[in-house]
Amino acid sequence: MKIQIRQENPGDYEAVFEVVEKAFAAEEFSDQTEQFLVERLRKSDAFVPELSLVAELGDKIVGHILLTKLRLVNDQTKFESLALAPVSVLPEYQRKGIGGMLIEYSHQRAKELGFKSVVVLGHEKYYPKFGYQQADLFGIELPFDVPKENCMVIELVENGLTGLKGMVEYPKEFYE
Ligand SMILES: CC(C)(COP(=O)(O)OP(=O)(O)OC[C@H]1O[C@@H](n2cnc3c(N)ncnc32)[C@H](O)[C@@H]1OP(=O)(O)O)[C@@H](O)C(=O)NCCC(=O)NCCS
Repeated sequence: MKIQIRQENPGDYEAVFEVVEKAFAAEEFSDQTEQFLVERLRKSDAFVPELSLVAELGDKIVGHILLTKLRLVNDQTKFESLALAPVSVLPEYQRKGIGGMLIEYSHQRAKELGFKSVVVLGHEKYYPKFGYQQADLFGIELPFDVPKENCMVIELVENGLTGLKGMVEYPKEFYE
């Protein structure tokens, strides 16, 4: 199975909508609106086109990941980071390593673009495989009433989160 990861382009939007919709369709924790979140984020200031990536098998899009800009905020400073949300793989292609490839590739691209960290709200057994750690270990809080195990961060560079204790400020499009 030869999977290719590349930047999404406008011609992919329809296929990506379907991939996201189908990926989340059976997820209990989801409200099944993630495909609309992707559409809103593409139009927002938080959007980084290089960090909207698709996984292709031949000419079929089977997965997608989106990293958008957010801020870590405290009394002294505001600092840019990224939100990983969402990552989606078509159900029939799940558990074949595609989600992992998308995550790793997105980290690499984000690092090349100068980002130093990523924040994710997600499954506590999945994201640690890719180096995510609980956000509270870094003094970072997410603005959601969810178990702390699900609030995670990764440093893309050494000490990427040193001295950045604070609250995560998501783009407003996450709340619409
Ligand atoms: C989560 C998702 C993107 C993972 O993609 P995937 O291609 O199936 O993942 P991978 O094959 O790369 O899995 C990597 C590892 O995570 C495990 N894993 C996969 N999905 C998992 C899940 N939902 N919960 C816990 N572990 C999971 C796999 O067993 C694998 O472990 P291993 O390497 O030790 O065998 C995909 O299952 C999906 O689209 N799910 C629905 C949408 C969703 O929940 N997105 C994440 C929330 S934003």
